[in-house]
Amino acid sequence: MDIELIKIRLREMMSKERFDHSINASQVARKLALKYNYHDVNKAEVAGLLHDCAKDLDYSTLEKMIVKYNIKTDEIIRKIPKLLHPLVGAAMAEKEFNIQDPAILKAIRSHSTGTSQMSLLDKIIYLSDKIEPLRNNDGVEETRKIAEFSLDKAVLKVLDSGLLYLISKGSLIHPVTIEARNDILSKVVFA
Ligand SMILES: [Fe+2]
Ligand SMILES: [Fe+2]
Repeated sequence: MDIELIKIRLREMMSKERFDHSINASQVARKLALKYNYHDVNKAEVAGLLHDCAKDLDYSTLEKMIVKYNIKTDEIIRKIPKLLHPLVGAAMAEKEFNIQDPAILKAIRSHSTGTSQMSLLDKIIYLSDKIEPLRNNDGVEETRKIAEFSLDKAVLKVLDSGLLYLISKGSLIHPVTIEARNDILSKVVFA
């Protein structure tokens, strides 16, 4: 689907705030793709645009989509409703936006938890979501600076602060986030 068409459809299905976040994420994704030599900047832009396409759906709609698209979940995901939107988003990108590229769908699917063995596109989308200009949480400015010279270190910083936050809230942690961190930490520190 054409990028402009995707934007029109997204605008109809999400709040203005979420739409602005999606546009910003897509632009940051494009820049990071260029900077870190991802072979297809348009692909990065599309993944950035669509990463939150299911985020404004209410819980009962998300549950219906899980059934409709036969989406595989797990015990932890079922206990953390926030983790449903990346999975439903990837299914919607495929079925409703006709995105067939598995790399784009995987990047959407893993944008909240990260995943083991993150691809370059997975990292670009994971990071774009967290550092786009509307984000103003503690430490984001430092992460933006790190992203100027190391994609892995910036992703690692976001994974670390996410994990610390989840621990401080007494929340469950999905094991793939630990796998993502171990994998990137091994590359950054123990290489
Ligand atoms: Fe999201
Ligand atoms: Fe997002």
